[in-house]
Amino acid sequence: MEQSVQKYTKVARIFHWVHTGAFLLLVITGIFLFVNAGFVAQDSWSRLLHRIAAVIFVVAPFVQLFANRKTAVASLKSVFTWGVDDLKWAMAMPRYYFLADEEAMPPQDEMNTGQKMWYFIIVVLSPIFVITGILMWFFGNILPSAVFQWSVFVHDVAFIFIFLMFLVHIYLGVIHPLMRQHGGSFRSMVDGTVTAEYAKSHHGKWYERIIKK
Ligand code: HEM
Repeated sequence: MEQSVQKYTKVARIFHWVHTGAFLLLVITGIFLFVNAGFVAQDSWSRLLHRIAAVIFVVAPFVQLFANRKTAVASLKSVFTWGVDDLKWAMAMPRYYFLADEEAMPPQDEMNTGQKMWYFIIVVLSPIFVITGILMWFFGNILPSAVFQWSVFVHDVAFIFIFLMFLVHIYLGVIHPLMRQHGGSFRSMVDGTVTAEYAKSHHGKWYERIIKK
């Protein structure tokens, strides 16, 4: 029988999907607010939904931090720890992404450099959304118009960047041919597991560690 290893806890999976739900709602209602016409105009239900989704998007990671402190802190630590292996990974990355060649890839830990980058982007961009969002939400009426316009601009640019990276996340996590090998990684966000073969080929360092344990 095919062997599986546990990659994500139930709490981590629940929060990943809650976060994703809030993110998608933010994207849709954000586009509505940007279009600002007809029944999706700025003073309609789209603004209310955008604000509700924003609160969930911001609060969920903190709830996760308290619900599963050990795992969340370990992930955060690894996101801010970069070394020679990350450099080697970045150099081998174009061959992996564009030529599906994983020979040059150095063995990866539980999160590879690309995953760390995605996590890092979320951690760094979220405060930008929060600050500009709070300025527009609570201080929109009293802010000098230049500050308000800058808040809108920064909020929108941050959104464009995170949305592009989100598409990359989906492509690399779910669609890329090498990610679908040996059962792929999507199931890790469904039942928490990956096959031993997948763990060996994509997260060699981590696999060796858990096997030793
Ligand atoms: C339909 C949307 C999404 C799908 C299908 C998806 C899929 C996945 C999968 C399969 C993994 C596990 C990858 C692995 O461990 O090999 C993952 C991890 C992760 N996802 Fe998502 N995801 C989605 C949306 C999001 C959103 C909106 C965010 C954040 C705003 C997000 C943040 C993360 C993070 C931080 C991880 C852990 C690091 C990583 O694997 O990149 N995901 N996702």
